Amino acid sequence: MGGDTLNEDKRIDMTRAILVTGGAGYVGSHTVAYLLENMGNDLEIVVVDNLINSYRKPGQKKPESLRIIEDMTGKTIHFYNCDIRDVQAMHRVFQNHLIECVIHFAALKAVGESVTKPLEYYQANVSGTCTLFEVMRDHGVHKLVYSSSCTVYGEPQRLPLDETHPTGAGLTNPYGRSKYFCEEIMKDLCASDKKWSVISLRYFNPVGAHPSGRIGEDPRGTPNNLMPYIAQVAVGRLEELQVFGSDYPTVDGTGVRDYVHVQDLAEGHAGALACFNKTEFTGFHAINLGTGTGYSVLQMVAAFEAASGKRVPWRVAARRAGDVAVNYADASLAARTLGWRARRTLADMCADTWRWQSTHPHGYAT
Ligand code: NAD
Ligand code: UD1
Repeated sequence: MGGDTLNEDKRIDMTRAILVTGGAGYVGSHTVAYLLENMGNDLEIVVVDNLINSYRKPGQKKPESLRIIEDMTGKTIHFYNCDIRDVQAMHRVFQNHLIECVIHFAALKAVGESVTKPLEYYQANVSGTCTLFEVMRDHGVHKLVYSSSCTVYGEPQRLPLDETHPTGAGLTNPYGRSKYFCEEIMKDLCASDKKWSVISLRYFNPVGAHPSGRIGEDPRGTPNNLMPYIAQVAVGRLEELQVFGSDYPTVDGTGVRDYVHVQDLAEGHAGALACFNKTEFTGFHAINLGTGTGYSVLQMVAAFEAASGKRVPWRVAARRAGDVAVNYADASLAARTLGWRARRTLADMCADTWRWQSTHPHGYAT
């Protein structure tokens, strides 16, 4: 089955489209909102999501995040409730729309769970990604923005982390390895056929929410990551934060990370899409998306208390297995190549998270 199954006359009438896999999720939904808010009507957004980590209200056709974005923007999102591993369903998506490029967010992302369910993670993240690439190739679509992670760098050998830092060594869990494997697969793909243009965006720590407070991060169960955990303590859903380790060689002994606003990430994806018009952007390109500044756990707590006016009780607990002490980006390649720079401050990240969390104490199901 291939792109030639599509009638040429029908193609001419079709609007150009961007396929967003996992577009109902946290980073995906903010990127979809940003694209719809900022692009013209000559481009449509198609989302494929199997809803494994996103919420749809009973009786609704679309997930809540996308329904709200449609309401915010007055634009339609074409939504397919399907798994990226479902080859036939994916072919139908490519037949129904004139897909020009793909932003590939869909993946499982809980690090702890990946240790107990490695096959599920490799199946969804690696096998699913290969299936997507096969369908793209069959339909003559070779432009891809991939959601990678700073986790591919493993334990930092030097800081800040730039894109020449080795990847793949010392990865401590199947989730991290799945992101690394996908990058290696994309390099091989680009080497095999010069038609491919792949931009692998290595996110540092995405936090924050849309400034409207209408969409945000909605983790299922108890959050694994710091910012949603702090937010749920502040809103009274959780009692206190456990600070994983206070004896790291950092400013106050707690772990330091490069937190980046999800709206800045959304702008980074738009910047990557714009690069596909430049000839030098064929082949594989890995680009960090971070601010270049690290904050400790306790600095995050203080900033969140200031933004929310709420107390965030915390106590020190043991270090979390697999954690590194300090991690932050050299984000200069993104500035040079995408013209992208993180613009939002830590205060913005906390204020926007709080606007979302305080109005949606139980996430989209509130
Ligand atoms: P998320 O779980 O909120 O969003 C992922 C979406 O993909 C969900 O809506 C889920 O239902 C969907 N999905 C999962 N498997 C699927 C499948 N097989 N077929 C179709 N849909 C599927 O996660 P997120 O935080 O938005 O992350 C998006 C991407 O960014 C992921 O690839 C993740 O690995 C990567 N990433 C995230 C972070 C982070 O901290 N949030 C950091 C670095 C990289
Ligand atoms: C997480 C992921 C990593 C991913 C990265 C970017 C885990 C184990 N790792 O790592 O794969 O690439 O996000 O999104 O999920 N902390 C606490 N208490 C908590 C939660 C976290 O003290 O309840 C601390 C951690 O020890 C760390 C910091 O807060 O120092 C940030 O933690 P987290 O938000 O989980 O991000 P990463 O550790 O960077």
